[in-house]
Amino acid sequence: MINSISLRYSYDFFLDFNPPFVMKKLAFLTVFFFLTTVGLVFKFIVVGDVQKHYDGRVAVKVNQDEVNYIREKMRGFLSSFQEVADGIAKENYEEVASAARRSGKFIRDNAPAGLVGKVPLRFKSLGFDTQDRFDVLAQAAKEHRDPKYLLSQLSAIAKNCAACHYSYTFKVVGP
Ligand code: HEC
Repeated sequence: MINSISLRYSYDFFLDFNPPFVMKKLAFLTVFFFLTTVGLVFKFIVVGDVQKHYDGRVAVKVNQDEVNYIREKMRGFLSSFQEVADGIAKENYEEVASAARRSGKFIRDNAPAGLVGKVPLRFKSLGFDTQDRFDVLAQAAKEHRDPKYLLSQLSAIAKNCAACHYSYTFKVVGP
């Protein structure tokens, strides 16, 4: 009985089998999944989870843990910045190097999972570039020991701080 039913179904399927139609369906599904993937990648990597802020900036929607993390890193940026300037003024290159290193790219290591998908691509680039520049500055303090050069590096970092602050803010959503 079971065998005859399954046989009939496979026979019907065989009769219905229409290669051009199946190919069209497959092509449609492939295009559909491709576009969905491209859309998701675009949303996840380029746009992030954002809304327009009342003052014209872009507000990145983050939860409380994520905003705490970023604000803490920001305060770290500011204190590194101040100590680097202090070190350059005193020509204390160890102070410059260690203060810069504290805001280098290692601070990405314990970023909350999911945060990277919420911030727009430009935000990520400015953030990562700032950390990379702090690392470069730390290295330069060891190698060049040239206050003018180090100041120009510090000024380039400040440009990133300003560019990001002019463009972005946060909107805390969720716990
Ligand atoms: C990739 C973007 C980005 C970069 C780069 C950046 N910031 Fe920020 N920072 C922000 C955002 C967004 C806020 C929140 C602003 C708001 O509340 O409107 C913020 C807030 C801050 C705060 C306040 C922290 C608190 O506890 O509320 C400080 C201080 C700060 N940034 C310093 C810096 C310094 C110094 C640099 C450069 C060395 C820098 N930031 C680079 C995005 C950035």
